[in-house]
Amino acid sequence: MTDTNIDTGTDVETEHGTTETEPADTGVSIADPELGTDALQRVQSVLESGMLADGPEVRAFEKSFAAYCGADRAVATSNGTTALHAALEAVGLEDGDAVITSPFSFVASANAIRLAGGTPVFADIDPETYTLDPADVERVLGERDDIVGLVPVHLYGLAADMNALRSIADDHELFVVEDACQAHGAVVDGDRVGALGDAACFSFYPTKNMTTGEGGMITTDRDDVADRAASFVNHGRDVGDGGSYEHVDLGHNYRLTSLAAAIGRAQLDRLPEFNRTRREHAAYYDDQLDALPLQTPTEPAGYRHVYHQYTVCTAERDALAATLDDHDVDTGIYYETPIHHQPAYETVSTAAATLPNAERAAETVLSLPVHPNLSEHDRRVVVEAVQDHFHS
Ligand SMILES: Cc1ncc(COP(=O)(O)O)c(C=O)c1O
Repeated sequence: MTDTNIDTGTDVETEHGTTETEPADTGVSIADPELGTDALQRVQSVLESGMLADGPEVRAFEKSFAAYCGADRAVATSNGTTALHAALEAVGLEDGDAVITSPFSFVASANAIRLAGGTPVFADIDPETYTLDPADVERVLGERDDIVGLVPVHLYGLAADMNALRSIADDHELFVVEDACQAHGAVVDGDRVGALGDAACFSFYPTKNMTTGEGGMITTDRDDVADRAASFVNHGRDVGDGGSYEHVDLGHNYRLTSLAAAIGRAQLDRLPEFNRTRREHAAYYDDQLDALPLQTPTEPAGYRHVYHQYTVCTAERDALAATLDDHDVDTGIYYETPIHHQPAYETVSTAAATLPNAERAAETVLSLPVHPNLSEHDRRVVVEAVQDHFHS
């Protein structure tokens, strides 16, 4: 056997930053980033320019991403977590301030509040949308008088109930920072996420609806928030007239590279097509899985879901995942442990809450492959595997 016949497998990225080795030819994968020659050409131009770190490519990416979201300003960051951290600093979160967020999310949603010196407080989710339940947010606000802001998470590609949450925020004078890391292009009542609060944060991790490898973005209509965030991600530099070694505040190096921005500009051009394809796959699953005893994703009236994940819900979750695995279909569980039960939250006193909807979701959700590179054959294989599980 020659080397070329040796099946060595490939390293694949899982949803949140770990790498697993997967044997080659594995059937249907849960994520498969699509990077075309357009990205390659833009990266080559940046390499040839010699300007690899911050620079005009990053400014151009910020400008086009803000325009896409319908926001006035955007600040690029090194990833979604640093976007959230910088946005929370920029809206004025102070040490010890309490912020309500979702317990059913990637841990970074709550970690960012802690990194900014705040205390995450969890309200329960709606069992159909998996996003923050405004009624439970009201319950928490009735029990505490130290809440200064909300971090709703647009989970799986579906925006949270922003009309209700914004009205609660207005009544209680709270800031709103959208965690839009999974929802590039999602819409509520004609408006894209990204300009529905004081700031919004996006991730460009490879499994997301668009990628830059690692990367993030803050969008906002508020100049003061954009200026503070731009300074915070760049060593607290004076973003006004001060020289580049004038540091007006404490800051980090949370900048995006020009190489990543070049990929981002090419990906942003293709985001509408990516999201359209995700929605076509989702419509096919909705139709084909309709008669089966599982809960399929909901798309409330006025919302446009962009299906970062196509997540079903069933009490037979683990058995269904095993059947799909037998058919070489990858699945994902996002998230098996709600944030308030994570070991890193044992010492966070506000994590001791009972949040039944989040806990039930953690035991029952399963995400099926819905990425734009799925072929019609792939998605038929997925459906047949799910049907096989429930019919045998
Ligand atoms: C809901 C949510 N928030 C925050 C993040 C953090 O983004 P990143 O992995 O780019 O730091 C992610 C990404 O994985 C996410 O899914």
